[in-house]
Amino acid sequence: MNTRRDFLKKMSGMGLGLLAAAGVGNSLSCSKPGPTVTLEKTTLVTVTAAPATAFVSFPWPYQKLDPLKAADKAYSNFARGRCMYAVFESIIGMLRDEYGAPYKSFPTAMMKYGAVGIADWGTVCGALNGAAAAISLFIDADPAEEIINELFYWHSLTALPDYKPSSTKFASIPASVAGSPLCHQSITGWSKLSGFTTNSQERVERCVRLSASVTRKAVELLNQKTDGIFKAAYKVPDGVTACLVCHGPGSVQGDVHTTSETNCLRCHEVLDPATHPAAK
Ligand code: HEC
Ligand code: HEC
Repeated sequence: MNTRRDFLKKMSGMGLGLLAAAGVGNSLSCSKPGPTVTLEKTTLVTVTAAPATAFVSFPWPYQKLDPLKAADKAYSNFARGRCMYAVFESIIGMLRDEYGAPYKSFPTAMMKYGAVGIADWGTVCGALNGAAAAISLFIDADPAEEIINELFYWHSLTALPDYKPSSTKFASIPASVAGSPLCHQSITGWSKLSGFTTNSQERVERCVRLSASVTRKAVELLNQKTDGIFKAAYKVPDGVTACLVCHGPGSVQGDVHTTSETNCLRCHEVLDPATHPAAK
């Protein structure tokens, strides 16, 4: 005979208590074999005796940090999980060290996935991805986008890295303007300019320092937002606006999935004047 007690035992053994503890669904029902049983959420939580972990609603609170200290942390965290992890762990880690909960419950090690443009795919720069993730933990999507835009523009248009560690074995790590948020373009462009190969120790050091630069900038922006003094400094480059006249949504040749944030000329350097309409 399938009793309510047997059923609860089974359910807790299957770890379904977690679902209830996370607030997923108010009731669970079970059909065949045996009679239908409906469980209340509160019953399940009692049965599984879930640990009393306080649920912190999204977005999480941000407390102002020292941008230079955060950059130093990123510089040393890089070796433990590379670019995305270095940036994210530095920001969350400083909050964790100072305030404990809820920051200590975040498994920052998951951010190792973002290394070298996500699992070595060379797509979005891991340092930018780590910063965007941290910003998005503290600020909901729409207002976060404003800060992320600012960070991405700054990264695309600034000679980086602009961080120097207090001691180093490298004589010189040149800076370059990436013109792109993409790992592949950023690294390859730097290698061409500096003469160091993409596999060199110098190139790795460049990305370590770049992670520190990005961490500092992200913390500065988060601090400004917290103080209510954030103001976007960058705007869509004129060259991009010129392309969007015809390639923006709804225009003559608008079926292109680009946004105003993408620097077209970084990839479309050469347009054939014989076939391509001239921009006015
Ligand atoms: C005056 C309108 C206009 C402007 C401005 C414009 N385009 Fe185009 N573009 C077109 C049209 C129309 C086509 C389609 C041409 C065809 O299929 O023959 C096209 C095609 C293209 C293509 C695909 C074919 C090719 O020629 O390679 C690319 C890439 C492109 N445009 C990039 C750009 C970029 C980058 C800019 C800004 C620097 C830009 N366009 C500005 C109208 C424009
Ligand atoms: C990261 C590189 C990159 C950037 C940045 C980029 N594009 Fe492209 N774009 C591509 C690639 C790759 C293709 C596909 C080329 C192909 O398959 O022939 C493409 C295709 C196109 C096409 C041709 C679509 C068609 O009908 O064939 C147009 C038009 C275009 N891009 C416009 C733009 C504009 C405008 C921007 C800036 C707002 C931009 N692109 C930014 C890489 C890029």
